[in-house]
Order: sequence, then C-alpha cells, then structure tokens
Amino acid sequence: MQTVRDLESLRAEIASFREKGETIALVPTMGALHDGHMALIEAAKTRADRVVASIFVNPRQFGPNEDLDAYPRKELADAAMLQAAGCALLWLPPVEVMYPEGYATNVSVSGITEMLDGAARPGHFDGVATVVSKLFNQVRPDIALFGEKDYQQLLVIRRMVTDLNMPIEVEGVTTQRDEDGLALSSRNAYLAPEEREAARALPRALGEAARSIAAGGDVAEALAKAVAQLEKAGFGPIDYVSLRDAETLEPIEQFDRPARLLAAARLGRTRLIDNLPVLAE
Ligand code: PAF
Repeated sequence: MQTVRDLESLRAEIASFREKGETIALVPTMGALHDGHMALIEAAKTRADRVVASIFVNPRQFGPNEDLDAYPRKELADAAMLQAAGCALLWLPPVEVMYPEGYATNVSVSGITEMLDGAARPGHFDGVATVVSKLFNQVRPDIALFGEKDYQQLLVIRRMVTDLNMPIEVEGVTTQRDEDGLALSSRNAYLAPEEREAARALPRALGEAARSIAAGGDVAEALAKAVAQLEKAGFGPIDYVSLRDAETLEPIEQFDRPARLLAAARLGRTRLIDNLPVLAE
C-alpha cells in the first residue's frame, strides 16, 4: 500500500490505476480506524478493483466547542490496518494541502442538513459536504462508501452528489456493533469504563422502540419510553430520539412508510449517535 500526502503523488497513483483500466472505490475516514471502517474497506473491495482510503481529521466539520483537538489520531496503526485489509492507496493530506492559505469555498446542502445533527451541530454538514467534495475531486472514484451509523451524513452526501451531478455511486454500509450492541465509533474511546457500560442502553432503547413501532405500537409512546430509558441510564442532555422518513428525514408520527429511528445523546462529555431502520413486520 502506498501512502501519499501531496496532490501530485495522489494524482500519479490514481492515473496509474486508470491507465490499467481499473475501477476505484474511495473510503473517506477521519482515522482512529475500527472494525466499522474495516467493513467499509471489505465492501469496497467487492465493488472496485482498487480501494483508496483517506484519513483527514477535517477541522471544518467540528464546532468551536467540539473535540477537534482531542479527536484520536493513530496514523501508524491505521496504516497497518489498511495495508493488512488490502487497501491499495492511503491518501493522508496535511491540513495545508486541503485548506491552503486563501482557501474560500464552502459546499452547503440545504434542507436535510437543517435538522437533527445539523440543528445540534451548526455548520457540521457544510464541513462534511465541503471536504467530501474535495476528496471526490481529488480521487475521482467510481464509488464511495460511508457507514450507516452516520445516516444523515450518508443522505447529505447522496443529495450533494445528485445535485452537483458527480458521477460517483454512494453506498451505505450497515453499522458494525460491539457484542452488547453499541455502534462502533472512534468516539467510543472517550468513554470511561462505567460510561461504556451505560452506553449499551442506547442501542437497547432504540431496538426496543423500533420493534414496538414496527409492531404497530404508538410512535410517541415508544419514543418517550426510549428517552426515559436513556435518562435512567445516565444519558443527558438528549439531543433527539426521533422517527423520520428514511429518505427525506422529515419527522413522521405514524409508521406508514420506510422509516428510520435516530438518536443523539450525551453521556458525560461524549456525544453518541445511533440509528436503526424500522422494518415492517
Ligand atoms: O464520517 C466521517 O468519518 C467523516 O465525516 C468524513 C465522511 C470522512 C468526512 O470528514
């Protein structure tokens, strides 16, 4: 696996794949890789001849009081995992390459970014859309893969790719979970042992609510019960526990179309998110 940190070398590597007629899958990440990322790499390998992973902790998607400085950085371990998984190329740009002096462009998707995590984290999805468009322009992949754990992010990127006519397929990959159900996330590393224990309440509460709603139970009641379970486990504040249209993310009060149950809540200093599809029985 080659690791490249400047645009010239990246373009040369990409050109060498294209000269051989090879297709390219991109897995964008912020590093601190775990099995969730590895599932993206595995899926990518089945979808293209070459897998390119990027690692870039993108300052533009962190708010002023968020965890940019604390975000885990594990470049060597990440590179070893990617190499072992059969990744062909690691794109590891320094911040000056992504946002050089004078950088002035923002990509902003409206509508779907204004709710849920977009409301809780102003500017977050502009940062995501901007960096992902840059990564797409740099790597020019045929397909890009993103985890469903960040479900709203996946829909924002799909919207952007459609609106800007980017010739890239965007594929979502099922959330990977620990044995007790907690969705894998680089931010789980922030949890103290007793918080990690309590965190299992999040997938449990969501799973219970999703099953109840799918079985025809009252939506408001199921959501209120999930909130109460999270509070009891020590979560708070709870940003949202909400049933949404699976495509538009508009709130829905009755389960009458493909739906997604999404939650975000703080446990101590760590903000956890998770979501589940609600499937008709
Ligand atoms: O999901 C992430 O890790 C990031 O939001 C992404 C897509 C790599 C953009 O920085």
